[in-house]
Amino acid sequence: MKFETFDTRHYPMLGVREGYGEWAARYEDTVLDVMDLRLLDRLRMVDWPAMASAVDLGCGTGRTGAWLRAAGVGAVDGIDLTPEMLERARARKVHRRLALGDVAATPFESEAYDLAITSLVDEHLPTLSGLYSEARRLTRSGGRFVLVGYHPHFLMFGIPGHFDRADGQSVGVESHVHLTSDHIAVGLGAGFRLLEMIEGIVDEDWVAEKPKWAERYWGHPVTFAMVWG
Ligand SMILES: C[S@@+](CC[C@H](N)C(=O)[O-])C[C@H]1O[C@@H](n2cnc3c(N)ncnc32)[C@H](O)[C@@H]1O
Repeated sequence: MKFETFDTRHYPMLGVREGYGEWAARYEDTVLDVMDLRLLDRLRMVDWPAMASAVDLGCGTGRTGAWLRAAGVGAVDGIDLTPEMLERARARKVHRRLALGDVAATPFESEAYDLAITSLVDEHLPTLSGLYSEARRLTRSGGRFVLVGYHPHFLMFGIPGHFDRADGQSVGVESHVHLTSDHIAVGLGAGFRLLEMIEGIVDEDWVAEKPKWAERYWGHPVTFAMVWG
């Protein structure tokens, strides 16, 4: 579904490559660990140290890769569409291989990974099928696919992924609403089974970062994580 149907902020919207190309320099200062890394900590259906190899789809600056390595995952490969984000991942030196390209068409080998992961990426994709089918192709039998996403419920409040320019202007990055039922249909269609799903709600940790959210958004789910196998 088009995000524009729900938009309440009406920021100028940039394409993914252009948006993250501009955001890259300040991305790490603005993204909150409570969105995604907190959810990875809560997952029970992934034995991280048992994952000898992982592929990070939409690896950005390498935040997810760094978390994976700290959690005991072996070699991590990554791919991202935005050169400026990838450059920062390269400087971080947590990945074995990095590639510039689309999550739906990676240059990596089939069934080569114990784990495929994508974090805060799916809301930028017009459709989910390419992401899930590529994750299926890349993971070996018995492997896991972890997807962390910006919650469709929260996107429907009309707030896209966005950042502030140096002059204070807020700009959004192209976003799409994928319902939970879309994820389930596409994931099952790709040949996965859903093993676990959790949601991150606006709670004390969120309000510590964004005090203004307490009144308007308290208790609403803002991100989610799924484990497919
Ligand atoms: C919000 S960032 C998330 C980065 C990283 N996973 C993290 O959690 O910090 C979204 C990233 O997805 C990338 N991205 C969006 N669409 C993509 C696509 N179709 N193929 C590859 N990367 C994509 C963007 O370039 C950006 O680096």
